[in-house]
Amino acid sequence: MKIFLDTADLAEIRRATDAGLIDGITTNPSLVSKVAGDRDIRELYLEICEAVDGPVSLEVIAIDRETMVAEGLKLATIHENAVVKVPLTEDGLKACRDLVKAGHKVNVTLCFSVSQALLAAKAGASFVSPFVGRIDDISGEGMQLIHQIRQVYDNYGYETEILAASIRHPTHLVEAMMIGADCCTIPPKVLWQLSKHPLTDQGLDGFLKDWAKLDTHS
Ligand code: E4P
Repeated sequence: MKIFLDTADLAEIRRATDAGLIDGITTNPSLVSKVAGDRDIRELYLEICEAVDGPVSLEVIAIDRETMVAEGLKLATIHENAVVKVPLTEDGLKACRDLVKAGHKVNVTLCFSVSQALLAAKAGASFVSPFVGRIDDISGEGMQLIHQIRQVYDNYGYETEILAASIRHPTHLVEAMMIGADCCTIPPKVLWQLSKHPLTDQGLDGFLKDWAKLDTHS
């Protein structure tokens, strides 16, 4: 399973890449607006792409096919790691097809149903991003969607990668792994939560206390 970091924060990205723990990055307009300030967005995207050895999803802002494609072509030329992210709308699916035909990778985002995921695969997307947490937020079963998309893609041999998104806690990631999602994008906080276990802290504390009882340390 590939782990992507869901952020545009370069400090967080470097913290994770420094440990060799992530396989790519996903951004969205909300995440970028949190960190961009008065920075040139293209430069920020370039720095993010250079910081990781893997796909970096960069989202278009337009909502009509023609402008999405124009924006997507610009985003795709920022770096070889760039993957153009488009919303799962009729225009987004058409823009996906156009960008794929032009030789670019596309992540179709804001996916909330199996039927939408089917169309993303039909449009030639490299990735589809079902939003697990946002479905849970409205009392749905977000992980059920990952199950269903996995089954449909496997039944018919679609190669679009399932990128479980809107992940809120480590259990989401573990469940997505068990189901067989291809990738999971997680906020930095969740990445570091994955490493935590109280028995690890307790065990380490015990080892250090016992070691300190020795007279000589070699
Ligand atoms: C996916 O690519 C999105 O950036 C992201 O996972 C959205 O998550 P949220 O629901 O926590 O905003």
